[in-house]
Amino acid sequence: MSALAVLHASQLVTLAGPKRPRVGREMSELAILPDGGMLIRDGKIDSVGTTNQIKVSVADAEIVDAGGRVVLPGFVDAHTHLVFAGNRLDDFERRARGETYQQIARAGGGIWSTVEKTRAAGNAELLAQAKKHADWFLHCGTTTVEAKSGYGLTLDDELKILRVMRQLNQETPLEIEPTFLGAHAVPREMAADDYVDLVADEMLPRVAQEKLAEFCDVFCERGYFEIEQSRKILSAAKRLGLKLRGHVDQLSNCGGAKLMAELGATTADHLEKTDEVGIVALKSAKVQPVLLPGSVYTLALTSYPRAREMIESGLAAVLATDFNPGSSPTPSMSMILSLACTHMKMSPAEAITAATINAAYSLNRGNKIGSLEQGKLANFAIFDCEDYRELAYWFGIPQTHSVYVGGERVNA
Ligand code: NIG
Ligand code: FE
Repeated sequence: MSALAVLHASQLVTLAGPKRPRVGREMSELAILPDGGMLIRDGKIDSVGTTNQIKVSVADAEIVDAGGRVVLPGFVDAHTHLVFAGNRLDDFERRARGETYQQIARAGGGIWSTVEKTRAAGNAELLAQAKKHADWFLHCGTTTVEAKSGYGLTLDDELKILRVMRQLNQETPLEIEPTFLGAHAVPREMAADDYVDLVADEMLPRVAQEKLAEFCDVFCERGYFEIEQSRKILSAAKRLGLKLRGHVDQLSNCGGAKLMAELGATTADHLEKTDEVGIVALKSAKVQPVLLPGSVYTLALTSYPRAREMIESGLAAVLATDFNPGSSPTPSMSMILSLACTHMKMSPAEAITAATINAAYSLNRGNKIGSLEQGKLANFAIFDCEDYRELAYWFGIPQTHSVYVGGERVNA
């Protein structure tokens, strides 16, 4: 039986609390233990307390001295597009010259250009690039990510991406929760309604049969998938036993939040344009909002989602990177914390709750990860600062000191 004792955390940010997503005031309660420690046995948290309490039972344990640094549960990034080929440097430069995301997409850049590169890439190449991305996440203190397909847009290419995720999950310490996003864009070679049928009638049954994804997502937006098309795909997914997430109300308020509420989705993501009607709908159906300020920042837009109204209305908000080559090329959750506090007026404590325990519940993993409590997986990160608020405050500088998954150190 292997044991590890973490001692002398300036703050052991446990996020201990009720066994459900945190809402309202609860989002500000981090259950911090000053001079904290924890004992880990066989990859799980055995006990949590002050350093003095933990010291009593560490005789057989390897000691990790946190040296007065902050210790946090590993970040849980509940919205990423982890597997793709290439990059979008040309889009980036065009935006710098003033073109918009939609103009660039119409001119042959955008999601489609990544689809072409991803289709052309073989398994080994995709896996190698995905491993590089996985390393980035771990170096930022993220130990679990949700990952979406969606740069294949044919049955075979979507399956290829989902299988790469499965392999990545086996070959790296990063935990990956796969989501099928066949409806990310309409492929150039097909009419939209034909593609909707292909996703609903052929792709989804295969994904469900091979158990390649737990969730189904749709990019519900004018010019991508309209409300009716999104409803058709998500309803088919639900019938096959998949749970639902959705890219909604990102560029226009087209009723996406209401649709996600109607379908009983687990999450509604983006929500930059969602108004109070949408917020009420999400609340009544207990859908978790996943807020992605990295894409607002990258696209140089000004409307960040209405986080304050969402939190005050009792929604269990989640923050995520939306890591992707086009609209949010960052794996850094601390960058997202900075954006959330500065532009969405979330407090550092609310932002941390949204990036850990609430994110874990949005992936149906709240009973295993997202907080430092007895019985949970020992997924945690030690940061080179004394106060957790520094994570959101200093930006552009990596503060990760060391990262552990299942009690094993995973960064050099
Ligand atoms: O979440 N909105 C749609 N999908 C991604 C962007 C993907 C891309 O541009 O490659 C997003 O922002
Ligand atoms: Fe996204």
